Amino acid sequence: MTEEAIAFSKPWMGAEELQLVQEVLQSRWLVGGAKLAEFERLWAEYCGCRQAIGLSSWTTGAFLVLHAWGIQPGDEVIVPSLTFIASVNVIRHVGATPVFADIDPLTWNIDPEDVARKITPRTKVIMPVDQLGLPCAIDAINVLAQQHGLRVLDDAACAFGSRNQGRAVGSLADVSIFSLHARKIITTGEGGMIVTDDTELAERLRRLRHQGMSLSDFARHNASPTTFESYPEVGYNYRITDIQAAIGLAQLARLEEILARRRSIAERYLSRLAHHPCFRLPFVPEGMQPNWQSFQIAVSAESPLNRNQWMERLHAQGVPTRRGVMAAHREAPYQALAATLPHTEAATATTLQLPIYPEMSEQQQEQVLAALVDY
Ligand SMILES: Cc1ncc(COP(=O)(O)O)c(C=O)c1O
Repeated sequence: MTEEAIAFSKPWMGAEELQLVQEVLQSRWLVGGAKLAEFERLWAEYCGCRQAIGLSSWTTGAFLVLHAWGIQPGDEVIVPSLTFIASVNVIRHVGATPVFADIDPLTWNIDPEDVARKITPRTKVIMPVDQLGLPCAIDAINVLAQQHGLRVLDDAACAFGSRNQGRAVGSLADVSIFSLHARKIITTGEGGMIVTDDTELAERLRRLRHQGMSLSDFARHNASPTTFESYPEVGYNYRITDIQAAIGLAQLARLEEILARRRSIAERYLSRLAHHPCFRLPFVPEGMQPNWQSFQIAVSAESPLNRNQWMERLHAQGVPTRRGVMAAHREAPYQALAATLPHTEAATATTLQLPIYPEMSEQQQEQVLAALVDY
């Protein structure tokens, strides 16, 4: 039997997802219903948080949190540039100014020492990112935030299921937000999940995602016919559907298996490429357990091929790759900030990502490894 072509990333879907989606369709309750409530409850429980709020995406969730915190023009939010541009765009969406901090060149995550240097009287929020699913140095960030009276929003878009000294990512900042986009560890196609222990904030976020409505549709349905909702403030439509929540529930049930399969693929890459003269492999600090949502390597200066040449060579051998994480400060909307970030520049120029997904077979991974060794 011939093997399927190697994918770069592929969501793992099965009969369980179909079954739960069918239940939603048959119930006719398509949004704001019981499946969403169950999905949020299990997500909060997994993260060890009081509250989880489902949304249409990470981006809409992060915008709502910054908005609810009153972040506005004149305020600064410290963020890495080495991240998907969404992390930075949401700061602009509320009219605030992104201030870029450089990364630790080993972990590719935001460097707390550079964060400390970037704090000014206008700083209101620090937004670290758990890049590629590797937990960032959140304890040092939280210390800085406490010293300066700042809030911490953890961009955990890629980090569901990752652990820091045994603690679930999601339980370690004032607010953490996950993405449920198709490339993430579990997916509902599009979607996001905010987690927090701040119940008052959570109630406000639930209203804001639904046009500011004081009562959810579900609560209204179960109340007396003359219990009317009110609209205490301007809100948005950032809802996630129960169809998505149903997919998410089935995905949650297979989370441990997804994590185990990703770990085993990552461990095989790590051991087989350990002595490869051309690559620097991902570094995992003591006590961190990444979910291996991506497997990124850096092409070293000694390599006869540069990053782009490696990508072309691998492509020619049927191995799809992606460039490493982008640098947002080099894109048109942020160039005027004129940030100087040497570690970020070096990382974005030299890194690439290899295929990793739960259904990737050993034979497919061997094909990737063969192409990496033959140059
Ligand atoms: C680090 C990071 N932040 C934010 C996002 C945005 O997530 P979403 O597409 O759910 O809005 C992504 C998505 O790829 C991401 O990787």
